[in-house]
Amino acid sequence: MKFKSKKIAFSVFPVLFFAFATLGTICAQSLPSDMPHLIKKDGRHVLIVDSEPFLILGGQCGNSSAWPEMLPNLWKVMEDMHANTLEIPIYWEQLEPIQEQYDFSMIQTLLDQAQEHHMRLVLLWFGTWKNGSNHYMPVWMKKNAAKYPNITGKDGKPVDSPSPHSQATLQADCHAFAQFMGYLKKADTHHTVIMMQVENEPGTWGSMRDYSANAQKLFEQSVPKTLLNSAVLKQLNIPAGTKGTWSEVFGNRADEYFHAWSVASFIEQVAKAGKAVYPIPMYVNVALRDPLTNPMATEYESGGATDNVIPIWKVAAPSIDLLAPDIYLQGDEKVLKVIDLYARDDNALMVPETYSNTKYLYSIISRGICYSPFGVDTRWRQAGNIKNSVADEYKILSPMSRQLAKWSFEGRTYAVIEPQDHSEQRIGLGNWEAVITFENGGHFGPAQDKSKLQSATGKVLIIKLNDDEFITTGINCHITFVPIGINKGKAWQYLQVKEGRYEEGQFKATRILNGDQTDWGGPSIGEEPVLLDITLTTR
Ligand code: DGJ
Repeated sequence: MKFKSKKIAFSVFPVLFFAFATLGTICAQSLPSDMPHLIKKDGRHVLIVDSEPFLILGGQCGNSSAWPEMLPNLWKVMEDMHANTLEIPIYWEQLEPIQEQYDFSMIQTLLDQAQEHHMRLVLLWFGTWKNGSNHYMPVWMKKNAAKYPNITGKDGKPVDSPSPHSQATLQADCHAFAQFMGYLKKADTHHTVIMMQVENEPGTWGSMRDYSANAQKLFEQSVPKTLLNSAVLKQLNIPAGTKGTWSEVFGNRADEYFHAWSVASFIEQVAKAGKAVYPIPMYVNVALRDPLTNPMATEYESGGATDNVIPIWKVAAPSIDLLAPDIYLQGDEKVLKVIDLYARDDNALMVPETYSNTKYLYSIISRGICYSPFGVDTRWRQAGNIKNSVADEYKILSPMSRQLAKWSFEGRTYAVIEPQDHSEQRIGLGNWEAVITFENGGHFGPAQDKSKLQSATGKVLIIKLNDDEFITTGINCHITFVPIGINKGKAWQYLQVKEGRYEEGQFKATRILNGDQTDWGGPSIGEEPVLLDITLTTR
């Protein structure tokens, strides 16, 4: 085993034992305990890797980087970033270049090199769908369009998107994916691969569904009974007891919902075939729609697991553990709404792709199992910006990623971002309330002129270790506290504020902050994140 063994000083096992033994739902009941798996308790989720909580602080490579000669640069980028997990594609066209002849060499290379670099892997199955198209199907399939058809648009013209109604495509994908998972099961004895993404942003751009004669026949049939379950209909805002054809039940949403059902049902078969061989957690990533305005599916990728069709996906694809939003939307309101929509009791929040701006990092990891910027070896390098904010953040967070996963699962993590109006934010922490103000630069002196601020970059992550002790990190902010609850009205002071880092599962102080560093409205954090351990006391 080449992974560094990371000793956790305070044991997480009592927590896990409790989760296993009582309320926790183990998603794959019959797994040996060291298989990667997800656990749920009290509406929160955690990924377990090597029997302990694991937070993916990842990076996704560019689409064409999973080739041997690209890897040295990629590992360097990932190490410079202090990431713990590489998300990297497995191309169907590379795996099965000739029908039924498989080339597993790239997978073996990835497993070997990931272990050398102490990195975990999330593998992305670029199969039938890649961003709604069939572009990663092997050449022998692309050459046989009659057997492996694309969608027919409403106007009768072909659309650059595979049909989810093709049995030949489904069989070929299930077969290839199961072969791949079979190899992985044998080769990956160290659980280097911790999750599988099945397809990539599946769905269709440019048509709400397949309008071919075959698809039309299916569309005119009754909606399947499993989807007419009253709990599901309620989530879709349809009155209980409604039944009939897709159009009768879902009105002007029928085309999109039918397509979501069809794509999800296809992917269920692929995931099921893979899990029958090797059941590690599997997810589907999503090209999002505007979460605030309920647009029609002509405005976004139809059939993918957008927020409005999550209930359909959950029924159609039970082998998919979670639906994962790729967050490229701009604007606090939209991004925070997406986080709310995908952090569900039945869905662990995972963000497998996002831009390199880290504003929402804490908001995501305080409630989720994965954060991962996209194109780490392409965009940033081209922009000459390899040392970026992600690296600064991961440098602090990676050594404590196991603890962060555990704390999030226990409901101890809180995050806020600086709003556009720079107004102060408050976080209730039991008998203390954290009051966070934002002044770019984070000086200990008086506040800067807010009219000079370019943008709202501030943010804070607070972890409640116990009633009076809080681990905190942030950017461009001041943090102070107000006694509330049983502390209300009492005099108080900082008992101690330590700055430091996590090592071997424990906070290691590099200095104690006092005087100017705590007296002027509480500790301040500037452009670079730092880690604080703050203990408060009443007098
Ligand atoms: C989302 C896709 O899932 C990625 O593979 C990549 O194509 C990015 N978009 C490009 O921004």
